[in-house]
Amino acid sequence: MAVERTLSMIKPDATNRNLTGKINAKFEEAGLRIVAQKRIHLSQAQAGAFYAEHAERPFYGELCEFMCSAPIIVQVLEGEGAILKNREVMGATNPANAADGTIRKDFALSVGENSVHGSDSPEAAAREISFYFSGLELVG
Ligand code: TYD
Ligand code: MG
Repeated sequence: MAVERTLSMIKPDATNRNLTGKINAKFEEAGLRIVAQKRIHLSQAQAGAFYAEHAERPFYGELCEFMCSAPIIVQVLEGEGAILKNREVMGATNPANAADGTIRKDFALSVGENSVHGSDSPEAAAREISFYFSGLELVG
């Protein structure tokens, strides 16, 4: 399997509870390497742009509000099959359906406040990485 990169976000519910280190440990234990990382505070417009694909969904307004309610960590994870592997480490969107040992099972508060985001395809990963990181910030 090819080495890939994927975009991850540690969401406000998790940064508020000081869980960045525990979540990063799960990535590293799964063989995902954190190759870029920074802490930012999204504006409403930036959150709206990042989640534009969900603009017609009923939860869009609440999602954007939540994502700019506190600082988040944005990061690039690298590894063999990193996109799918990260989705596995994250667990199901709704923590009630998430498998044991996953980030969302262990830490998420609800389907909305679910601790992490991960790209869901190679196309999304490319778009989402370039949303937050310049080429200069991405060491080869
Ligand atoms: P989605 O892309 O479906 O989930 P995932 O983060 O697992 O890729 O949805 C994006 C985010 O929108 C999700 O992490 C939390 C929020 N959301 C809700 O608040 N309610 C919902 O019913 C769904 C499906 C998502
Ligand atoms: Mg998604």
